Amino acid sequence: MPTTVIVGLQWGDEGKGKTTDFLAEDVTAVVRYQGGDNAGHTIMLGEEVFKLHLVPSGVLYPHITPIIGNGVVVNPATLIAELDMLASRGLEVDRVRVSKHAHVIMPYHIALDGAMEARLASAAVGTTRRGIGPAYADRAWRIGIRMEDLLDGPALRGKLARILPEKNATLQRQHRVEGFDLDELVTLAAEWSRRLEHHLADTTQLVQERLARGEHLLFEGAQGTLLDLDHGSYPFVTSSNPIAGGACTGGGIGPLQVDEVLGVMKAYATRVGAGPFPTELTEEIGEGIIDRGREFGTTTGRRRRVGWFDAVPLRYAVAVNSVSSIMLNKIDILSGLDEVLICTAYEVDGHRVDWWPSDADVLARAKPVYERFPGWTEPLQDCRSMSDLPDNARKYVDAVERLSGATIALVSVGPERHQTIDRKPRPLRPRPASGLGAWSGPALGSAGR
Ligand code: GDP
Ligand code: IMO
Ligand code: MG
Repeated sequence: MPTTVIVGLQWGDEGKGKTTDFLAEDVTAVVRYQGGDNAGHTIMLGEEVFKLHLVPSGVLYPHITPIIGNGVVVNPATLIAELDMLASRGLEVDRVRVSKHAHVIMPYHIALDGAMEARLASAAVGTTRRGIGPAYADRAWRIGIRMEDLLDGPALRGKLARILPEKNATLQRQHRVEGFDLDELVTLAAEWSRRLEHHLADTTQLVQERLARGEHLLFEGAQGTLLDLDHGSYPFVTSSNPIAGGACTGGGIGPLQVDEVLGVMKAYATRVGAGPFPTELTEEIGEGIIDRGREFGTTTGRRRRVGWFDAVPLRYAVAVNSVSSIMLNKIDILSGLDEVLICTAYEVDGHRVDWWPSDADVLARAKPVYERFPGWTEPLQDCRSMSDLPDNARKYVDAVERLSGATIALVSVGPERHQTIDRKPRPLRPRPASGLGAWSGPALGSAGR
């Protein structure tokens, strides 16, 4: 049984929630490996809409164990609210597991995120203001609070007593905003601990035991490759590694335990927050895509910026994620356009650039070089096979595949599970033996996989 990593190939919001939900039926666990409640993954089941920020999208299937891995930064208040929301809608949530080693987003991280954004003014990143950057910074600085720290009140008080004076000084003196009271934080942490204690686990052990049993696990990325701290358009990025490699550090697996990397992308580009966006469409065509595609942030409600599909960062994303196949979402939203453009290269300072420069200053000067394709008028939401698609839509998918260098295995024509076209088989790589004992699954490369 394979291990599948689902990874965003653009600037987030590619439809990872739908993709995870579509693939999750056959897996036993879905693991989030990075990010925090900056993520907003929407899943539609008939009339019901679920917006998830922390709980992995597999939670909608009762047989799945949703796991929040060590690489996630957890705002316990969001998590508790999300568990309550899911329970109130009839889902059993006791099975949700959270890594003891995941770092906690504390109230001072959220305050610092907002204060830093305000101070940066016109240079602000446009973060979700969920405290993501400051929480990851403290993790790297080794002064973070981990989920397991919530369980030991006296020890936590000691840690906070050492950290808080500096946080408060920064907030009060540099940013002129209020600080936090030690007793109040300790009381809050005790409440979180009471609610979340029975969800905490060594999730790496859970994951490795399941892999040794030959179970099929899915690792659900948040954000996307172009928001990656190392590979995205720095500094307009998030503070974690959404790329497939993040599933190893944040999900508790080794690189050779990944059998499949399914890249998720939309048939056009969107971006929330600041930063260069070479193919951005600011006029009528863009407005139409925003309206038809309901391109408003799941987490912040912000209007997303939209643009033509950009194959330059896509090639980069296919390489750094070692994408084995792609799910192309939201092609239905392009119906009704006279022509559809794909950016195939940039012109920067008079030179042609084919390789994603990632440097924000270079990207800000990049002029897109476009290939043009005739559009189609037919609505696509009822198409269930490639032959149902109009010729021009099929040609567009073929062109995106050619430019990406990876197989487009799945094409999505609507937000619901069944609005998905199985275009081609998904290739898997052979897996070596697990460290926890002899591999008991089917023989490598066998048809059973
Ligand atoms: P994520 O953050 O990558 O999970 O993506 P979001 O959930 O933030 O945004 C994707 C939006 O597009 C959600 O509202 C999905 O329900 C919706 N969606 C996903 N795939 C399709 C599709 O093929 N067509 C349409 N019309 N909507 C889709
Ligand atoms: P999902 O998982 C789109 C963007 C923010 C901002 C930058 C840094 O739904 O695809 P942060 O709060 O992470 O420090 O903000 O990253 N961003 C996202 N954009 N989808 C997301 O998640 C995002 N999470 C963060 O808008 O530009
Ligand atoms: Mg989203």
